[in-house]
Amino acid sequence: MSPYQDLLQRLPGQPRTWLVTGCAGFIGCNLLEALLHLDQRVIGLDNFATGLQANLDEIRASVTPQQWARFTFHEGDIRKLDDCRGACEGVDHVLHQAALGSVPRSLADPLTTNGTNIDGFLNMLVAARDAKVASFTYAASSSTYGDHPALPKVEEHIGKPLSPYAVTKYVNELYADVFAQRYDFHTVGLRYFNVFGRRQNPDSTYAAVVPKWASSMIRGEEVFINGDGETSRDFCYIENAIQANLLAAVATDPAARNQVYNVAVGDRTTLNRLFELIRDNLASQGVRADLRPTYRDFRPGDVRHSQADIGKARRLLGYAPTHRIEQGVAEAMRWYVQSL
Ligand SMILES: NC(=O)c1ccc[n+]([C@@H]2O[C@H](COP(=O)([O-])OP(=O)(O)OC[C@H]3O[C@@H](n4cnc5c(N)ncnc54)[C@H](O)[C@@H]3O)[C@@H](O)[C@H]2O)c1
Repeated sequence: MSPYQDLLQRLPGQPRTWLVTGCAGFIGCNLLEALLHLDQRVIGLDNFATGLQANLDEIRASVTPQQWARFTFHEGDIRKLDDCRGACEGVDHVLHQAALGSVPRSLADPLTTNGTNIDGFLNMLVAARDAKVASFTYAASSSTYGDHPALPKVEEHIGKPLSPYAVTKYVNELYADVFAQRYDFHTVGLRYFNVFGRRQNPDSTYAAVVPKWASSMIRGEEVFINGDGETSRDFCYIENAIQANLLAAVATDPAARNQVYNVAVGDRTTLNRLFELIRDNLASQGVRADLRPTYRDFRPGDVRHSQADIGKARRLLGYAPTHRIEQGVAEAMRWYVQSL
């Protein structure tokens, strides 16, 4: 049995209290759903900056009334220390996801990104430290690799940040490390690589590539590829990100704590291949299949290739991704076809 399967069996018999910040957003609402299905108590914190009430409504419909009764929602803002303190009361494990994502958003509005991702992050660290939580697991980012050319990406070797967003995510790691050293506080940073899956919003100005293309194809709109389509990424299905969060939060091995980990699959897929995968999956569900992408200029600040080395998470957390991109796209497309 894998460490994750073992954890999934044990958790329902050991209910704990989890705080998921950003619980109305893509990754946060999927964490909320997974934890409620495991009969855990969950506190959620979100200000709906980019999150959706519809995500919470969908989770409510997917769990039993008893499981939903274990969820307490705080509408609040991580930029306010009191909101963070209120949410951290009585919490065992924090899964801190709330932030403003997107490189282009941070280039357009670096101040708001900084306020949420750095001031808000620091508030959460202080509140969680003072509440004496058992662990603080947070969403870091592969953008921290910046201009470092090596592939695959190994945690110790990072380059210079290429955007204000990347600066904020790197500063998170620095603060988490200092809190771990100085306050005997357990932090784990998860450097997500292009996470995708159900409930990732296709309609935001800063939508990620998978939901944007899925919705465009379903709605019969033009699909754009920035550059020649040979740009590649390590696309990580949401189930893998959930696994990494749960394993990180309950890790007791001192060597596994106070670390940052790549969270991905260890594969590399080009945008051209991703386009085919999404198109063919949608075609198998009756969405028209004769689409061709429209190529346009490369997007400034985008790195050409990205691929994770996931050896550290495998070794220290027992992380073993269950979904490669093909399975993830197949599951995600079923959701997009039903929902759109
Ligand atoms: N999706 C990815 O591929 C990816 C990759 C790397 C890192 N991340 C990080 O993972 C985390 C979750 O990302 P996501 O894709 O779910 O994004 P998302 O935008 O769907 O979710 C973020 C959530 O945080 C909430 N939020 C924002 N500002 C807040 C504030 N001031 N107070 C309270 N709540 C606030 C939003 O309303 C939203 O519900 C973020 O920290 C993001 O930077 C995501």
